[in-house]
Amino acid sequence: MKNLRALAAKAVFQVLEQGVSLSVALPQQQRHLESGKDKALVAELCYGVMRHLPQLDKCVSDFMSKPLKGKQRIVHQLLLIGCYQLYFTRIPPHAAISETAEACRKLKFEGLVKVVNGVLRRIQREQPELSKAAQTLEFNTPAWILKRLQQAYPDQWQQIVEQSHQRPPMWLRNNQRSQTRAQYLQALAELEIDACPGVSSDAILLSRARDVASLPDFHQGAASVQDGAAQWAASLLAPQNGELILDACAAPGGKSCHLLEIAPQANLVAVDFDEKRLERVHQNLERLSLDAQVIHGDAAQIDTWWHGEKFDRILLDAPCSATGVIRRHPDIKWLRQAADITELAKLQQQILTHCWQWLKPGGTLLYATCSILPEENAQQIEAFLAATQDAELQALPQQANERDIGWQILPGQDNMDGFYYARLYKKR
Ligand SMILES: C[S@@+](CC[C@H](N)C(=O)[O-])C[C@H]1O[C@@H](n2cnc3c(N)ncnc32)[C@H](O)[C@@H]1O
Repeated sequence: MKNLRALAAKAVFQVLEQGVSLSVALPQQQRHLESGKDKALVAELCYGVMRHLPQLDKCVSDFMSKPLKGKQRIVHQLLLIGCYQLYFTRIPPHAAISETAEACRKLKFEGLVKVVNGVLRRIQREQPELSKAAQTLEFNTPAWILKRLQQAYPDQWQQIVEQSHQRPPMWLRNNQRSQTRAQYLQALAELEIDACPGVSSDAILLSRARDVASLPDFHQGAASVQDGAAQWAASLLAPQNGELILDACAAPGGKSCHLLEIAPQANLVAVDFDEKRLERVHQNLERLSLDAQVIHGDAAQIDTWWHGEKFDRILLDAPCSATGVIRRHPDIKWLRQAADITELAKLQQQILTHCWQWLKPGGTLLYATCSILPEENAQQIEAFLAATQDAELQALPQQANERDIGWQILPGQDNMDGFYYARLYKKR
C-alpha cells in the first residue's frame, strides 16, 4: 500500500526544491492511488502546506537542532506535512504522527524516523502558537507580494490576502449549445446538486466541489469547469459567426471553447507556445464537439505560422504572474519571484504590440490576465494606449469606475478569481 504522506512529501519537494508547479507535481503522485478519498487527502496536505508555508516552516525549524540539507530536504517537507496535520486537520494527532514517521521510512530515510517522531511529538505536546512575528508569517505570503499589494491597494490588500487563502469554489460553464443555463440548473437540482447562477450568462456556482463525473452529461459536453471570472472573456470579446478570430495564448482551451459555444460558425485559430498544453485544447474541443485550427506557435511572431488575413477579433489571455488565482494555486507564492514581474510585463507588451498588427481596422482585441498587479494590467494598457495611435480603450460596463483603465476583478469578488480585462478597439 502506498503511503499518502510520502507521496505528498514528494510533490511538495518537487515544488519547493525543483520549482515544478503543484498542478504538475501533484497528479504525478496521485496517479499511484486508486481511491478518490486518498487522492483528496494527498491534495489537501500539499495545498495546506503551500498555503501556510512560512508558519509551518518556522514551527518545524524551531524544533530542529540543525536544518536538513540536500537530499534530506524531503524529510523537512514531510515534517511540514506532519505539522500541517497537527494544526489544520481533524486527523487524530497519534495517527498523523505515526503515519508521517512511517512515510519517512517509506522514503528510505530510516535514520531520520526518530527525528520526525521526536519533532512532531514535541510540537503536539507543546502546541506553540504559530508565529506572526513578521508580516510574511502573519499573512503566509512573501514580502515582495505583500509590498506590491499594499502599494496598489492600500485599503484592500488585507482583504485580498485573506481571500487568497480561501478554498476556491467550483464554477461550471453551461454549454449553451446543449441546453439553457436554467435547464442545466434544473438537471443539477434533480440530482440534488446545490448550485446557483453566476453574474455572467453561462456561469453556475456549485455550493461545493465535486467530481465532474457526477455532473449531468459532463462527458457529453453539457458543461465545463471554468472560474466565473474567466467566463467573462468570451462575452466581452463578443465573437460573431463567420468572423476570423485568434485566441493567441489558448491552452488549455477553456476560453477558446467558450468562444465557439457562443459563435460555433466562427473561424477560430487557437495558438499556444506550449505543445504539451495544446493536447488539452484538442481534448476540450473534442469533448465539446467543437472545431478550431490549433497551432503550435509564438504569439509574438505570428508571421512565422500564419499566412492568412488579419483577424476580426483577438483574445490575448497573456502569460502573467497569476497573482489573482493564488487561492487555486497557492504554490504561485513560492514559485514566483519579484524579478519575474518585470520580465512578464515585457513579454506581455511584446505579444500585445505584435498581435495588434494582426488585428483588422475596426477589430477588437481583448487583453486578459489572471493577475492583480497593475504593472501587468492597467499600467500595461495605459502605456500601450500612449504608444499606439490607432488603439482606443472601450470602457466595460462592469468597471467600478468609468475612468478606470480596464476592469480589475479582485479575488473573491462575487466568488470569482482575480482577473483583469481591457477591451481595445482598432480605429479605421
Ligand atoms: C493564461 S494561460 C492561457 C489560458 C487559456 N486562455 C484558457 O482559457 O484556457 C497563458 C498561456 O500562454 C501561453 N504562452 C506564453 N507565451 C506565449 C507566446 N509567446 N505565444 C503563445 N503562447 C504563449 C502559455 O503556454 C499558456 O498556455
